[in-house]
Amino acid sequence: MKRIVVLISGNGSNLQTLLDQSAAGQLGGEVVAVVSNKAEAYGLERARIAGTTTAVLSNKDYGDRDSFDAALMQLIDSHEPDLVVLAGFMRILTPGFVRHYQGRMLNIHPSLLPRYQGLHTHQRAIEAGDTEHGCSVHFVTEELDGGPVVLQARVPIFAGDDEATVAGRVQVQEHAIYPLVVRWFCEGRLTMQQEQAWLDGVPLPAQGHA
Ligand code: GAR
Repeated sequence: MKRIVVLISGNGSNLQTLLDQSAAGQLGGEVVAVVSNKAEAYGLERARIAGTTTAVLSNKDYGDRDSFDAALMQLIDSHEPDLVVLAGFMRILTPGFVRHYQGRMLNIHPSLLPRYQGLHTHQRAIEAGDTEHGCSVHFVTEELDGGPVVLQARVPIFAGDDEATVAGRVQVQEHAIYPLVVRWFCEGRLTMQQEQAWLDGVPLPAQGHA
């Protein structure tokens, strides 16, 4: 059984799907710990309800990014994970941290990457007049939101939609695709080689540019 550590900063709805599928034996892995950089993150409560170990490491207690990431790495590694899952973890990670988990750290981002890297993705898609939007699961590399995409899901944007409507529509898809990708990893079907994602020994096509 693969060991998974999930990092969160907030609500933890993606974490919830992973906890549920882990408990149901459908993930091929076990969420062994949930770490938040925010003590008030609701995802911590979700983890406690599921009986999963939690930890809070506040970035405010560290003078700089390097020392926080070093402490975070130590905390994560104490749980001996096979996979680190970023699920709404709203921190930019240092290159050394990312390199340490190269090929075994996944993120979910609320846009059709490479479109809308960074924040406020739903609002930016609406303001651009996009009729299509979505979410992407990708391996984490040193380029922010730039690692190889494993799986995307698309949703429509309709006239009159606001940020909350679109966010809700995207999240339904996030909850479908993230556990699926985690399962592929846990089953040994998904790897990253030469900055490319591979599934069942086949390189996945790079996603097109906006
Ligand atoms: C998700 O929509 C995820 O895509 C986004 O944060 C949300 C967390 O929701 N992540 C990012 O924006 C990362 N840059 P959740 O806490 O309910 O899972």
